[in-house]
Amino acid sequence: MKRFKDKVIVITGGASGIGKSAVNKFLNDGATVVIWDVNKEQGQSTLAEARNNGSIVDFMKVNTTNPEEVEQATSATIEKFGKIDVLINNAGITRDATIKKITYSEWQQVIDVNLTGVFNCTRSIIPRMIDKSYGRIINTSSVVGLYGNFGQVNYAATKSGVIGMTKTLAKELGKHNITVNAVAPGFIATEMVKTIPEKVINLMIDKTPLKRLGTPEDVANTYAFLASDEAAFISGAVISVDGAVTI
Ligand code: NAI
Repeated sequence: MKRFKDKVIVITGGASGIGKSAVNKFLNDGATVVIWDVNKEQGQSTLAEARNNGSIVDFMKVNTTNPEEVEQATSATIEKFGKIDVLINNAGITRDATIKKITYSEWQQVIDVNLTGVFNCTRSIIPRMIDKSYGRIINTSSVVGLYGNFGQVNYAATKSGVIGMTKTLAKELGKHNITVNAVAPGFIATEMVKTIPEKVINLMIDKTPLKRLGTPEDVANTYAFLASDEAAFISGAVISVDGAVTI
């Protein structure tokens, strides 16, 4: 099904994990995809793999924490592909530590990527979406943003913050036919989760009614739904993709 034929989709953090899965999902559905990621090596390898299926896909090295780099990437994407229909603010990092041990740098790095990065990309692309009276913005929150998590004060603050941004932007941008939604994944089997001790992972699986970790595809499928015409009247929503771990 080529439901995203003629759509140009920017995916931040598209070089690996959930973002990479989303790149392939959208390409299979006919989209033109532009990966914005700080990791050039990983980005080039994702690009090479994705190009194998003959779709239009590009990689731009962008650190989303840097507003000038983001602005350049927006201009370069528009110049090359003419528009940006969908922005998926997927890039994110963890620097886990309890409040007793966390350093200021660990706090700030996570705020910069997970919150300011989302702000930079959204602010840069919005005028282009308003010009076209069309847009879909999908932000990546987390179950941790909804319920908190031991040892993740920085991460939880950013993922709750993303929900606040999502609801505010849904209110501000609805009149321009731009929807803004968030996805709140549970524990998904990517590099990010490899930093969590096995004991904790097993505990999470045990607590999850569906008795498994999520896959990157589980989240990518939800991004694709929210970007599709079927989701045209959904805005300001936070969709959990967590195997019911939080109920
Ligand atoms: P990942 O670590 O596999 O991929 C993250 C990507 O973001 C990497 O390619 C990295 O290079 C890129 N990135 C990091 N900082 C960047 C920056 N400043 N500018 C541009 N790109 C940058 O992580 P994963 O697991 O795929 O996570 C994707 C999103 O999903 C993140 O926002 C994460 O917080 C969120 N999430 C992940 C969960 C999980 O269990 N894996 C659970 C809930 C949310």
